[in-house]
Amino acid sequence: MTSAIDKMYTSMQAKLSRIVPDVELRYKAGIAVEINKLKVKRNAVILGHNYMEPALFHSIPDFTGDSLDLSRKAAETDKDVIVFCGVRFMAETAKILNPSKTVLLPAAKAGCSLAESITAADVIALKAKFPGVPVVTYVNTYADVKAESDICCTSSNAAAVVASLHAETVIFLPDEYLAKNVARETGKHIIFPSIHPPVKEAQGEDGNGELDYQLIGWRGRCEVHEKFTVGDIETVRAQFPDVVILAHPECSPEVTTAADFSGSTNAMIRYVQQSKAPHYLLLTECAMGDNVAAANPEKDMLRLCMVRCPHMNMITMEDTRDALKFNRYIIEVPEHIRVRAQRAVERMIQIG
Ligand code: 13P
Ligand code: SF4
Repeated sequence: MTSAIDKMYTSMQAKLSRIVPDVELRYKAGIAVEINKLKVKRNAVILGHNYMEPALFHSIPDFTGDSLDLSRKAAETDKDVIVFCGVRFMAETAKILNPSKTVLLPAAKAGCSLAESITAADVIALKAKFPGVPVVTYVNTYADVKAESDICCTSSNAAAVVASLHAETVIFLPDEYLAKNVARETGKHIIFPSIHPPVKEAQGEDGNGELDYQLIGWRGRCEVHEKFTVGDIETVRAQFPDVVILAHPECSPEVTTAADFSGSTNAMIRYVQQSKAPHYLLLTECAMGDNVAAANPEKDMLRLCMVRCPHMNMITMEDTRDALKFNRYIIEVPEHIRVRAQRAVERMIQIG
């Protein structure tokens, strides 16, 4: 056991010695060894989202990546158990795609403000208001919302999914900022209608009442990315004039426009790997900055860590170990919802 821990510690230290203090690495190497033993015993696969804290990210996952990547891995696995080190909508997506597997989420309350922002009843009401208009739903939603949708998307394929529909008008839910960023990228005009009378109907983003809209959005927001401002970017640029700033498309269009690049978590990682700048700043969950810094020791990553995702941060190595040990927290999706949600997610995966 001790030599297994030593081996794990050495491999974690090789990647993380500049990021995580030694004392923490030694402690977490012990937990990682316990997890890996349980993983073999349970015939499990561990999927780790790019936002996982560095010691977890660089030790126990069989696969790491963005939400699109990990949903593909979940669909393909032949293991008995999928442990999703991410948030509930991601684990639900794994269950939707691979229903015969036991899917475990290490922290029962790891949610997402976007997934909380919309219900299946809201989607049904929107479809009644705009009959025949196809519904594109961001994967950051719960299964019953996906079930009411024609197709899902992630931040890495949102514009491609909208384009694939060849539709004049598309309902795009529920992220206001992602929708606005997609509208800008695809040259579409967006509106945010009200489905809850007596609130006065908003007919146009600019309030002019024109009905030339092509994207129908919803006012959901990521509680993390909505906090980044153009002021933050200006302040960092004043201090580091040659910094390259990357923003997730869940940030406001003002922020993504002021940044040098905008893309999914994987796209941001690739951008840093493939470019050469004196400093980088990621406007996204702070842990990803640590993970990118660990993988690119020659690059200087600035961190803006006053904004954190409380949901992603609930996933700890201790809880991941206990998930495998005590078979918790099991993700279930009622079959009548799952089959309908599966259609929407699989349509997305085919687009890539
Ligand atoms: P990605 O699909 O880019 O990994 O993003 C998921 C997410 O929750 C971002 O906040
Ligand atoms: Fe949801 Fe935002 Fe957290 Fe991503 S960062 S899981 S979108 S709350």
